[in-house]
This record gives sequence, structure tokens and C-alpha cells, in this order.
Amino acid sequence: MKGVILAGGLGTRLFPLTKITNKHLLPVYDRPMIYYPIEALVRAGVTDIMVVTGGRKSGDFLSLLGNGEDFELKHLNYTYQKGEGGIAEALGLAEHWAAGDKICVILGDNIIQRNIVKMVRDFEAQEVGAKILLKEVPDPERFGVAEIDGDKVLSIVEKPKDPATNLAVIGIYMYDPRVFQVIKELEPSERGELEITDVNNWYIRDGSMTYEVLDGWWTDAGTFDSLLHASELVSQGGANLVDEPVAK
Ligand code: DAU
Repeated sequence: MKGVILAGGLGTRLFPLTKITNKHLLPVYDRPMIYYPIEALVRAGVTDIMVVTGGRKSGDFLSLLGNGEDFELKHLNYTYQKGEGGIAEALGLAEHWAAGDKICVILGDNIIQRNIVKMVRDFEAQEVGAKILLKEVPDPERFGVAEIDGDKVLSIVEKPKDPATNLAVIGIYMYDPRVFQVIKELEPSERGELEITDVNNWYIRDGSMTYEVLDGWWTDAGTFDSLLHASELVSQGGANLVDEPVAK
């Protein structure tokens, strides 16, 4: 499986911190934000990685990450998203590189406490479809919110005013190669973006969406409060913790 990290967008919710730099280069405790999703993939055994950058100072990703030596990688791939046409648009830019493989996508501002190696393995064993990870949160209206019935996801609503559950869809998604065709057929949402929630609802309608509930804490870092919270959480014991050796 290949890994895609989405680090485009303009980070407008963090202005003026993001006036002259990219959100994913800002510090979260003792490291730049982008280090956490890269480490999350590497520790799950996903080492063939593409970083989708965009917006301001995208060249700084190369200076910072190079070929991924800090993560014991031999190579990192990069591509560039013009503007901020949405998470699904950013993912669409990885099509030529994914070249028919399954992919694990992580939003560049999502940080998790525990390793996702089990979910990655489970999806490797899943014949077709997609997998999302859910987490109970106190403020579901900030996220994509899932309704479930047993082992089935019934629907996902993006930032609902009146959430049906408190199950947030976290920014880690796994897809079969059909995802790129799904993205090509999307229409922009009211906020003018190609929404990852629309991609996920396509897989739900297809009957091939699975889900798991994440262990340990999860946070985004795209607002002042969540950025501060992310630093506090990481400072209290680290992120991407591994409790079993990762098979190479
Ligand atoms: O954090 C999880 C949430 O992320 C999900 O629950 C939502 O369903 C999903 O839509 C997303 O919500 P946000 O509105 O918080 O996403 P945001 O616009 O902050 O973008 C998150 C990351 O996605 C950002 O750090 C970089 C990447 N991105 C975003 C956009 C809009 C891109 O690479 N390009 C883009 O155009």
C-alpha cells in the first residue's frame, strides 16, 4: 500500500501564523506538524509516500524533509496543489503516482497517539472498497460525522449543525484504486471544494465502506485551540506510539 499526505490548502483559520508559511510547517511541541503524519505512515509499515503540498512556502517542504532521512526513508515524492480546491482535489493529484495501488491517505494536520498498523493490515486484506477511522469527540459539528449500524456505515455528513452522533471521521482514509475515478465525477460543495466526505459517501452507497474506531487520542491542528491542544497532547507522552514491532 502507498501513503499520501495532504498538506495543501492555505491554513486561513490560523492567520496570521500562516501568512508567510504553510500550516504543516508550524511547530507541534518539538517538531514540525508534517513530521507526525509521515511518522504515522512509516510506523504502520507504509514507506512509499507522496506529500501533496501547496500554498505558501511549498519549497520549504523539500528543505525540511529532503528524501525523508529523518524517517529512515530513501525517497519521498512531492506534488503541488494550486489554490485550495479541497481535500479530494488534493488527493486526485496523486493518481499518476498511485498507479493502481491501494492508498492510505492522511491529512497533514491530523495527529494520533497510537499506531495504525492494525487498520492498515486489515485494509490490505480487504478485497475492495474503502476504510475510515472513527473517534468519539465532544464537538462533532467541527468534523465529518458518521452514522453507523453494527459494522456498517450508513452515512457521513460534513460539519452538521445538528450531529446525529458524536463519531467524527478522522483524517485517515484508505481507498482502492477506484477512488480517482470517483474524484473525477465529484461536483464542488457549497464551500467550493471537492469534499472527501462525498468520496466516502460514494463508497458507502457502493456497499464497500468499512470502519474501525481509533484507540488513543486523535486531534487535528488547524485552529488555534486544536494547535495548542496538539502540542499539549504530544508533550504528555508522544504520538504514533508503537506497541508491536512493525513487520517490514
Ligand atoms: O480533521 C478531520 C476532518 O478533516 C474531517 O472530519 C472532515 O470530514 C474533513 O473535511 C476535514 O475537515 P476540515 O475542514 O477540518 O479540513 P481542512 O480544510 O482543515 O483540511 C485538512 C487538511 O487537508 C489540511 O491540513 C491540508 C489538506 N488540504 C485541505 C484542503 C482544503 C489540502 O491538501 N488541500 C485543500 O485544498
